[in-house]
Amino acid sequence: MDDLEVGYDIPAAIGMDEAAIQTPCLILDLDALERNIVKMGGIVAAQGLRLRAHGKMHKSADVARLQMRLGGATGLCCQKVSEAEAFVRAGISDLLISNEVRDPVKIDRLARLPLRGARIGVCVDDLTNVPDLSAAAVRHGTRLECLVEIDCGSGRCGLRHAADVVDLARAIGAAPNLHFGGIQAYQGAMQHLRTHAERAVKSAQVIAKVRDVLAALSDADIACATVTGGGTGSYGFEAASGLYTELQCGSYAFMDADYGRVLNENGQRMDEGTWENALFLLTSVMSHPGPDRAIVDAGLKVQSLDSGLPEVFGRSDVTYTEASDEHGIVADPLGVLKVHDKLRLVPGHCDPTCNLHDWYVGVRKGKVETLWPVTARGKML
Ligand SMILES: Cc1ncc(COP(=O)(O)O)c(C=O)c1O
Repeated sequence: MDDLEVGYDIPAAIGMDEAAIQTPCLILDLDALERNIVKMGGIVAAQGLRLRAHGKMHKSADVARLQMRLGGATGLCCQKVSEAEAFVRAGISDLLISNEVRDPVKIDRLARLPLRGARIGVCVDDLTNVPDLSAAAVRHGTRLECLVEIDCGSGRCGLRHAADVVDLARAIGAAPNLHFGGIQAYQGAMQHLRTHAERAVKSAQVIAKVRDVLAALSDADIACATVTGGGTGSYGFEAASGLYTELQCGSYAFMDADYGRVLNENGQRMDEGTWENALFLLTSVMSHPGPDRAIVDAGLKVQSLDSGLPEVFGRSDVTYTEASDEHGIVADPLGVLKVHDKLRLVPGHCDPTCNLHDWYVGVRKGKVETLWPVTARGKML
């Protein structure tokens, strides 16, 4: 193969030993991933809920298909129109953009997606968005399902007052080619609060708000088929509320170091028994310049450090202490690492880390079993 041929830099080939994978790259422990996905499928089934797993986390049509095949997912969430386009191109046909779309070019692209056979939902939090969405759907002869987003404590998008939700639901219901599908109530700011008790307090506020909105819609004779929301830090509360019909968890499938530090109802770390680490940033030692310090080839260009440094998986003898563009410094007080040794890093935050990579290398029992493209990598529009 010519050394500049496209594809030469793919980090692994199916069937090769894990030891031969080129680093730095993302690897998935397929056994752990499948166990996480099956477990969440069991949770939603037991509660009679739907799962619309959040695809902004993995951005992978292959992982989405696994969530649908093994894990009870009936559809996918994403945040951006270009992400939705990438998923539709890859054959995912039931998508909610759990976000507002305001730009006319993006609205036009959104309204075209059902022409590819996809069922498309979108969040709305402003009356002035309704005529734009409706005109685009009419123009393309398509239908968009609109969910009114509620701000239930995150201070991001969403309406705060039940009366405004009713007005918006009514406007959507009256707009040609739009359908009022229900409400989205996702509280992002509480997901990583460390203790279960702290999350319980915030969740009670979310649920009170949802109850209030549902009562106002019912008083106005507006049917609300879907109540969607919930993340890996909160899904138990939404599921137990009796109000939600759908969960949107994302990180549960891969986990990351910051979610690992979140404690469950028994005070245990979430990565010790609740969810398994399935995503790793595989890195190699490239230098050992001092007796107690190794340099690895994973720096900040291959991982997001917004939630802290990565943890070295399964090792208490070495610690990742510092990152620069292409280098990571690993404290090695016992001098156990050698050049070419590989370490599995658990990234601090999975979503923005995955968005930096082209490939997931799926491994099982020491062998590469799958090579999955990060389908919607870099899709921000
Ligand atoms: C709207 C929405 N729903 C669900 C999620 C999934 O959350 P998690 O990855 O914590 O499960 C997110 C993540 O930020 C989100 O923004």
